[in-house]
Amino acid sequence: MIRVKVPATTANIGPGFDSLGIALQLYNIIEVEEINFGLEINVPVEDRMHIETNEHNLVYRAMKRLFEVVDFHPKGLRINLINNIPLARGLGSSAACIAGGLVAANKLLNDPLKKEEIMYLAATMDGHTDNILPALVGGLTVGCLLENEVKYVKMNLPPQLKLLAIIPDFHFSTKKARLLLPQNVPVEEAVFNISRVGLLVASLVTAHFENLSEATKDKIHQPYRKDFIPNWEEITSKLIKIGVKGCFLSGSGPTIMGILDEDYKNIENEMVKFLSHLEQRYKVTVLDVCNQGLEVLNDEGSNGCYR
Ligand code: HSE
Repeated sequence: MIRVKVPATTANIGPGFDSLGIALQLYNIIEVEEINFGLEINVPVEDRMHIETNEHNLVYRAMKRLFEVVDFHPKGLRINLINNIPLARGLGSSAACIAGGLVAANKLLNDPLKKEEIMYLAATMDGHTDNILPALVGGLTVGCLLENEVKYVKMNLPPQLKLLAIIPDFHFSTKKARLLLPQNVPVEEAVFNISRVGLLVASLVTAHFENLSEATKDKIHQPYRKDFIPNWEEITSKLIKIGVKGCFLSGSGPTIMGILDEDYKNIENEMVKFLSHLEQRYKVTVLDVCNQGLEVLNDEGSNGCYR
C-alpha cells in the first residue's frame, strides 16, 4: 500500500497569475494498491455526493496517465481517498488529486519517472504550474510551463506567516472563472502586475510584510472575477481595515485570503463576527504555510518529502 499526504495550495497570490503558489497545512490523504482485478475507489460517506468513484475520478486519471507513459497495465486498483481540501474553492483540490495520483502511481512502480517528469505531467494535466508546484514541493513556488518541461524555484516562507482563508459555501470552477478573463491585457496593466510580483516574492521571503498590501494588488484577473465573489468589496476592505498584511482571491476563487503574521487571533475573531452578519455563509480558517510539500508516508509516518 502506498500512502501520500498532499497539501492544499493557494495560487496567483494577487498579481502572480498562473505562476505563483503557496502550499498550506491542510492535506488530502491518498492510498493506492494494486489488486487482482477491477477499480475500487473508496471515499468517506459524506464525500460520495461530490467525488466520482469510477474511471472519471481525478486521482485515478492521474495514475492512468503515468501508467500510459511507462506502459504499465495494472491488474486492478484500489484507491482510498480522505479529502480535507474543499472542492472547487480555489484551494488546489484538483492539483492535489493530480500531484498525489501521479506520485502514488510512480511509487507503486518504484519510481520509474524522475521528479521533473512528474512535475511536467502534472502541470500539463492541470494546465498551469501555480497549484501543482507547491503541492509537490511546498513553500512558495515561482514556475513556468515550457513546451517540454517546467522551470521553477521553491522558497521556504517564514514560519510566522499565516493565511486566513474565507471560504464561501459554494463551488466556483476554474474553467468558468477563466472564461471571465479578457483575451488581451494593456501594457500598463501588465507592467502594474510585473512590478508587484517582484515586490511580492521579495517581501514574502524576507518577511517585509509591510509591503504586502500593495504587492498583492492585481489588474489581470481579480477585477474580472470579483463580481462573482459575493461581498468581495466589503470583505477585502474590512480585512485591510482590521490589519491583515495583504489580501487576494485564492486561485480562481471563491475563497478570499488574508495574509497574517503571528499576531492574528483578534483579526480572526473580528472577521468571523463581521461575516456572520452577511447573507452568504463562510467558513473561516487560519492556515500555516507547508514548507515541506507532498510526503510519502510509511507506517511510522513520513517517509520523506518530495524533493
Ligand atoms: N492560475 C489559475 C487561475 C489558478 O487563476 O485561473 C486556478 O486555481
